[in-house]
This record gives sequence, C-alpha cells and structure tokens, in this order.
Amino acid sequence: MGKLQLFPEQASTLAPEVDHLLYFLVAVTIFFTVLIFGAIFYLALRYRRRSNAEVPHTVHTGYTLEILWSVIPFGLTMVMFAWGASIFFTASRPPSNAINIYAVGKQWMWKLEHVEGQREINELHIPVGTPVRLTMTSEDVIHSFFVPAFRTKQDVLPGRYTTTWFQPTKAGKYHLFCAEYCGTKHSGMIGWVYAMEPKDYQNWLSGGASEGSMAENGKKLFEQLACSNCHKEDNSGRGPSLVGVYGKQVQLTGGGTVKADEAYFRESILQPQAKVVSGFEPVMPTFQGLVSEEQVVQLVEYVKSLGPKPGTGPADAGQQKPATKNPAGSTPANR
Ligand code: CUA
Repeated sequence: MGKLQLFPEQASTLAPEVDHLLYFLVAVTIFFTVLIFGAIFYLALRYRRRSNAEVPHTVHTGYTLEILWSVIPFGLTMVMFAWGASIFFTASRPPSNAINIYAVGKQWMWKLEHVEGQREINELHIPVGTPVRLTMTSEDVIHSFFVPAFRTKQDVLPGRYTTTWFQPTKAGKYHLFCAEYCGTKHSGMIGWVYAMEPKDYQNWLSGGASEGSMAENGKKLFEQLACSNCHKEDNSGRGPSLVGVYGKQVQLTGGGTVKADEAYFRESILQPQAKVVSGFEPVMPTFQGLVSEEQVVQLVEYVKSLGPKPGTGPADAGQQKPATKNPAGSTPANR
C-alpha cells in the first residue's frame, strides 16, 4: 500500500464486485467525455465560419446514425442497471449461514453485541471467511454503518431493524465510520473492525469477562419483566407460547399473517397491539421506555433461541461455536 490510495483496501467478498462495477462506470465516463469533447473541438474547427457571407446548408441526418446513438447508450445504461442491481441483491441478502451480531447506534458511539454475550463499543471483532450479518437499530437519530474496506454502508434507523452483511477476506484492522450526519460529534462516531483468523476469533470470544450469552441475558430479562407469566411454554397463558415461533408464519387477529422475525418480535415488545396473534386478547402492555434497544435485542435473541432457526445455524441457547456451518434445521427445537 503506497501513501496515495485511490481506493480503500478490498477486504470483503463484496469489495471486488463493487470495484469492478465502478471501474466500468469510470471507463464508460472517460470514453464518452473524451469522445464528446474531442468532437466539440474537432467540429468547431472543421466547420468554423470562413467568410462573412457564408450561409450554412441544410443537412439531413440518416436514421442509422440516430438509431445508433440511441441504442448504444440505452444498452450501456441497461448493463449498468442490471450489473448494479445484481450487486445490490447480493449485498442485501445475507447468506443463511451468516453469524448474527447486533449493533445499536447512539449519539455518538457504536455498541455491538455478539450472541455469545461479548459487548464492544466502537470496535467489532469478526472472523475471516465467515459471513457476518448485522442487525442494527438506533437509540436516537439516523446513523449509518460504513466500513469502506468492505464496501458496506447501511443506514441505522430509530424504530426499526436494518440489516447488512459482509464476509471479510483477509485479517486486518479496518475503519468503521458513521456516514450520516447525526449531530455535533458525528465525526467522532468512528471505530475499528478487526477481522481475525477463525481461531484467533474463537480465542477472543472465549476470553474476557462473559456475562452470559445474549439469549441467557434475554431469558433473565424475560423473567424479570414477568413476560413468562403470560407467555407460558405450554400455551396456557394469556399470551401465545414463544417456543418454536421464530421464523414461522403467525396467524393474526383479524386475518393475515406475519413472519415471526426479529422485526416482529421487536414490534410486539414495543407496540404489542400492532399485530395480535389470532386467538389472544390485546392485553399486553407496551414495554416502550422500560427496555433499551440493547435489552430488546437480548429478548429477541432469547425468543430466537426457543425456536427453529431457519437456516441460521445452531440454536443459540448454550451455543459455543457461532461459525459452524450447519444446514437449516439441524437442531430442531420444537417442543
Ligand atoms: Cu452517527 Cu453520524
């Protein structure tokens, strides 16, 4: 790496793909800039006015030329569109074997939490060669999670979950930025992503003070908040049982279904009346203001640990190895 770097390092599987598209866009842009400016100068000289009495004669353009200069740019822009869309789809669909890490943005820091329970501020440790899915939300205003070396940038919004993913390809230390102006210290909302060799990552995970996995902490909260009084495992409570619910389609009061994913769990904790499960009364109080976003994600992890995990690896409760690439439903946790 020299001193002057036109592009950030390529450190994720997405990085070369994004860069190739960018090279193509730049090449097309340069080609047409040169062509158009060349034509302007050449034609200005070639057809300059040579005498005061000169009158231009009428010129009829052929259809061929008109069709060509319409069809060629159209084709080029369609290539750009299809190519860009395909990268966009790749970037917005985390692979099913991705490990899940939660991020909460806050003026002015990044708080990250691993399902194993490790928490970090403005630092993120991840393994090389494993896709990592981030589930992100904000406690206050809009932030944006940006790792240039991964070519990853995703807005982080209050009131909902957004996700992004990346798969680091080489070990190293990479800049993490907030890429959305979020107040006075926006420029200080920065940090580092440490991509580590898998065994170093395992060492890192097992080191440090562990306060229990996210699911375990979520379970404690679940009991402290008395959620367990209504959400009984055998479905005899006033609320539906949460066992085996994750990833399923849930029947709602008044018709319709909703997929029981992270976003639905979060909504049900904060706005319980929004989508009530069929067969139950809308009696659950809101926990808005009683639980922080970090506690919500722990509750979400707990509920996920109770249910089948559609293609996201082993169940969370008591899990040690997040990076094992188990196929879908390898640990059926149905009651
Ligand atoms: Cu957070 Cu800018």
